[in-house]
Amino acid sequence: MKILVTGGSGFIGSNFIHYWLSRHPDDEIINFDKLTYAANPESLKDLESNSHYQFVQGDICDESAVDSVMSSGVELVVHFAAESHVDRSIDDPLLFVKTNVIGTYTLLNSAKKHGNIRFHHISTDEVFGSIDFGSNLQFSEETPYDPSSPYSASKASSDHFVRSFGKTFGLPITITNCSNNYGPYMNPEKMIPRMITNIIDGKKVPVYGKGENFRDWLYVTDHCSAIETVVNKGKIGETYCIGGLKETSTNIDLVKRVLNLMGKDESQIEFVTDRPAHDNYAVSWEKLHNELGWEPQETLDSGLQKMIKWYQENEAWWREAKTEAEAFYQRLAASRQK
Ligand SMILES: NC(=O)c1ccc[n+]([C@@H]2O[C@H](COP(=O)([O-])OP(=O)(O)OC[C@H]3O[C@@H](n4cnc5c(N)ncnc54)[C@H](O)[C@@H]3O)[C@@H](O)[C@H]2O)c1
Repeated sequence: MKILVTGGSGFIGSNFIHYWLSRHPDDEIINFDKLTYAANPESLKDLESNSHYQFVQGDICDESAVDSVMSSGVELVVHFAAESHVDRSIDDPLLFVKTNVIGTYTLLNSAKKHGNIRFHHISTDEVFGSIDFGSNLQFSEETPYDPSSPYSASKASSDHFVRSFGKTFGLPITITNCSNNYGPYMNPEKMIPRMITNIIDGKKVPVYGKGENFRDWLYVTDHCSAIETVVNKGKIGETYCIGGLKETSTNIDLVKRVLNLMGKDESQIEFVTDRPAHDNYAVSWEKLHNELGWEPQETLDSGLQKMIKWYQENEAWWREAKTEAEAFYQRLAASRQK
């Protein structure tokens, strides 16, 4: 099978390409990626000599570039490419509309033109908004959309376009809405790798507000196996929620776990001003489990241990991105003080 992976040089996409080719070595993957700041081509360097892997640099908003790859015999699209950082979406919302909405539309239109190619869309649980403190609600496929940030609004819009292409044009689509991922190849601008790399650097670990917000964390290879399950066994037109935990974790609990696993104490925690509209998330993955038999393999501690080890052993991969990320946070803090 020939698969077009968009955004394959980013965090989840690069993990997915490694995962897929290790399990389906006869398949062919084209990685179509613009190589924004969030991409790191080093994540896939080991595949450069693999004849089943091809990299094409391009923008998902560029119709002719998208048509050109789509017409090369692609049978399945797995669409990861996106602007994915909530804080950046507060800084520059229009970029998120362009990439996440217009880019997704451009891909859908091209998949339709080239013979209704099977289209799997990667989305987020953030489209459902936030869970109130003290509530035991979990997001599910039935939860109404209620996005809070420009990022989640743009992802919500892209989900609606994907679904509409299924209903209106018969495009064979599936969607997965996943909780927060963590694992190797994750840009150190994001919360967990930022914590780990700060601790490696002997710096304080920033925690938004009082750290009371809670999230549902999924180790990235568990996300990859869930996507594989939906691609292989999912019902066309359906949405599946993916989550990781039997219980959620507050941000402060997560920081304490990471500090503990890295042999440090809580004096390294630094509380900083909360981001606007900071959401809480928890996801029910019952449908994916009951109908398709998927379940996550990692616990939060086992996944964190693997991830910490990877960052300790791969400083060359993250050092430059860390410098850029810290410069971004400094600019953001300055602009929020104005
Ligand atoms: N990270 C998470 O916790 C999480 C959770 C649920 C869903 N998701 C979704 O999974 C997908 C991947 O997330 P991620 O964390 O790996 O993101 P990421 O920011 O690490 O990677 C995004 C990739 O997309 C590429 N890209 C951006 N704009 C592009 C464009 N216009 N054309 C082509 N390529 C472009 C970037 O170069 C980068 O390689 C996103 O759609 C995101 O919404 C992420």
